[in-house]
Amino acid sequence: MKIAVIGSGYVGLVAAACFAEMGHSVICVDNDERKLSALQRGEIPIHELYLPELLERHLGRRLHFSNSIKDAVQACSAVFIAVGTPPLENGEADLSFVEAVAREIALSLNGYKVIVEKSTVPVYTSDWIRRVMKRTCTAGSGFDVVSNPEFLREGTAVTDFLYPDRIVVGADNQRSRELLREIYSPTIDGSYSAQADRIPEPTNSQTKPKLIMTSAKSAELIKHASNAFLAMKISFINAVANVCEQVDADIEEVRKGIGADRRIGSAFLNAGIGYGGSCFPKDVAAFRSVAQQVGCSFPLLDDVIKINSEQRHRFLRKVRETLWTLKGKRLGVLGLAFKGGTDDIRESPAIEIIKLLVSEHCSIRAYDPAAMDRAREVLKESVSYVADCYEAAEGADALLVLTDWEDFSQLDLKRIRGLLKYPNVIDGRNLYSREAMLNAGLTYISVGRSTLKPIASSEHAVDAISVSLE
Ligand code: UDX
Repeated sequence: MKIAVIGSGYVGLVAAACFAEMGHSVICVDNDERKLSALQRGEIPIHELYLPELLERHLGRRLHFSNSIKDAVQACSAVFIAVGTPPLENGEADLSFVEAVAREIALSLNGYKVIVEKSTVPVYTSDWIRRVMKRTCTAGSGFDVVSNPEFLREGTAVTDFLYPDRIVVGADNQRSRELLREIYSPTIDGSYSAQADRIPEPTNSQTKPKLIMTSAKSAELIKHASNAFLAMKISFINAVANVCEQVDADIEEVRKGIGADRRIGSAFLNAGIGYGGSCFPKDVAAFRSVAQQVGCSFPLLDDVIKINSEQRHRFLRKVRETLWTLKGKRLGVLGLAFKGGTDDIRESPAIEIIKLLVSEHCSIRAYDPAAMDRAREVLKESVSYVADCYEAAEGADALLVLTDWEDFSQLDLKRIRGLLKYPNVIDGRNLYSREAMLNAGLTYISVGRSTLKPIASSEHAVDAISVSLE
């Protein structure tokens, strides 16, 4: 099938490349000329596993980039809208890009098309797209509007797209439902996963995803409610971690115990410095606004947001409690991205914590395997960027772990101990076992695990507290 994807951000670019991989002929449209020419040269603006391979396979063959919505719409049967929906000051999603694209699509129609809303949008957006297009349409061509929310995660976006748990199609008539079924048929019927040259499936993936057909409004709600629920799980476990700290329990043990109940599940129960990224903060706020607008108070979402924000300040208090005063302290920082496996720093808890530390006149030496260029655009030269974890640790009063990169959990801890000025590791992601840290001679402060006890004497004067390990 011929598919147009409008927008080459995370969702648009991954969807376009994966549709090409599934055998469709795709035109991906963007109005950012610089980005477009980079993509046309095969350069990818984001750090995403398997995306380079997909571009290499399909660019110029089944995948083309263009700046013309009109050309793309006229050449294709399905048009996916994957433009940004950034948050407004009041938390609502800004739908002006969606509206502008819908108008342009309407002006370009040259026959029946299915318009698919892929961006995360509030309920009723498909109704609005339909209304705006009807008002704008000059030709008598028919069209349908479908909601097909995307659940991909950064870092695993390609495999999430090709091997999803479920595909949600919110369509209000049979014709558009069938078209969407046809688009996704290589994943639904398992024929893609049987291909010899497929992108390898993740170990725990289902062979065939569930296809869930709903109304457009239900599909829109499924997306917001899914992200809000996952964010709630994270805030819940962080709140439990805080209780653990007070009663000397271990959140890692508690997490395993809770997660083993299949009704709860173990995913998204990692305690830490809270969620970030381009989706959860924005989508929880947008969902809260939607609920308010339709007259449903949803105070649970206020608490999810509040706990998340408090978690960063709580971490900062741990740094202060460890070092007493912050001014002039040298800190090694591991991690800038909002999570491991990506170079994205949007709403990154790490960046927020670093900004607060810089405002307290700490001197920061930071390392991230992928996000340093992006971080530099925001933090400028307020921090030093170093070549690896060990350089970050060198001469530092404490080493802070702010992103859950897999590499960080493989460090040579004895070497780290030798490099640090004082042996303090403050881990906002719970990447290490306390025993390993103790064996390496490091004072280890983490989330929901440590019993902080003042000690009378210490081998290092600034280390006024220590972790008690039974
Ligand atoms: C999320 C959703 O998972 C995805 O379905 C949706 O399409 C887009 O938003 P993403 O933003 O890529 O994906 O990241 P995700 O892996 O969900 O993590 C979000 C944040 O939560 C990160 O900051 C991560 O570090 C944090 N997190 C995640 C936790 O703190 N604990 C966890 O147990 C899981």
